[in-house]
Amino acid sequence: MAEVRLVRVWKQFGDFTAVKDLTLEVKDGEFLVLLGPSGCGKTTTLRMIAGLEEPTKGQIYIDDKLVADPGKGIFVPPKERDVAMVFQSYALYPHMTVYDNIAFPLKLRKVPKQEIDKRVREVAEMLGLTEFLHRKPRELSGGQRQRVALGRAIVRRPKVFLMDEPLSNLDAKLRVKMRAELKKLQRQLGVTTIYVTHDQVEAMTMGDRIAVMNAGELQQIGTPEDVYERPANTFVAGFIGSPPTNFMDSSVVEDENGVWADFGEFRLKFLDDQAEVLREKNLVGKEVIFGIRPEDIYDALFAQVKIPGENMARAFVEIVENLGGEKIVHLSAGDINFTAKFPAESRVVEGQEIDVVFDMKKAHVFEKGSGKAVF
Ligand SMILES: Nc1ncnc2c1ncn2[C@@H]1O[C@H](COP(=O)(O)OP(=O)(O)OP(=O)(O)O)[C@@H](O)[C@H]1O
Ligand SMILES: [Mg+2]
Repeated sequence: MAEVRLVRVWKQFGDFTAVKDLTLEVKDGEFLVLLGPSGCGKTTTLRMIAGLEEPTKGQIYIDDKLVADPGKGIFVPPKERDVAMVFQSYALYPHMTVYDNIAFPLKLRKVPKQEIDKRVREVAEMLGLTEFLHRKPRELSGGQRQRVALGRAIVRRPKVFLMDEPLSNLDAKLRVKMRAELKKLQRQLGVTTIYVTHDQVEAMTMGDRIAVMNAGELQQIGTPEDVYERPANTFVAGFIGSPPTNFMDSSVVEDENGVWADFGEFRLKFLDDQAEVLREKNLVGKEVIFGIRPEDIYDALFAQVKIPGENMARAFVEIVENLGGEKIVHLSAGDINFTAKFPAESRVVEGQEIDVVFDMKKAHVFEKGSGKAVF
């Protein structure tokens, strides 16, 4: 068991900065997800922790031991870091049986044969692979192969697991199943795990905490609730959740009745505490980005708190996507477009005008330009 700590880590490939000033603390036994779009530096970060890549600047600690610090000329090779990495393309040895594939890292380390046998069988039992131990990888399904790759990492009992999109090769259904299994397994073993994905659903469902990255930079780190309910900026608000948060240009105006988000076509009244923050930050009279999630815009027929003129708007139904359990509804009001998620019972049809209610408790305001969250 171990903590992993990155302190102001940079990775430069020539002129290109792949990871920029990254500080990250992974707690003992924690399941941390590194989430971000393709090319944002996730794999590079994992490879630096594994020791497959040297940082350009900064320090990496595993279990309080400094394993990389180019400033001091310190670089502990991968073998001595006691981490196990599961790669996206988990190449199993095709000519070896499942048993031998799992046993391989122990054989390399010259573990006694009896001990190997005990540990391989233990891991196989845990992963439901006991009956497949004599098979070759080509005789297994994708999910079974994935479990062999995990077995190969687990059998070593490393201090840290590093997993780089280990489920991305599986079909959607199997991915959902393996997601839960992997999480359960990590709980059982209690091994500190850093898990890379670009899939926000995977991140939300699996992570104790999520570190959201973009273009080499950490955007926010927090629990799934933190990043969903209190996104630090427009990037996080737009990346987490599906469909993404609606962003609408708005002016903040104040009159004798309160502080409003004015969209031209309609306006919405901020709650008292929101109004206070906007006044404090001198945003009254300014242009901002108003953000609200599709699930926080209701069909007025199903809304609890309806206050005409304060949290309601008239909108035109452009498109309805029926997902069975819910409906994704694309709406417009003048030249403002937004998306709402309605319950299956909603009877809205395309081409209709409806009243929608904005749940102002859930509204966000972001600074124009920086995209930083005000609330
Ligand atoms: N050895 C290298 N030389 C030059 N550039 C590299 C090298 N390795 C990675 N990069 C660049 O660094 C950036 C980050 O790469 P990285 O593989 O870490 O992204 P990622 O977040 O894992 O993306 P993906 O989700 O597509 O796997 C990319 O723009 C990539 O092209
Ligand atoms: Mg990658």
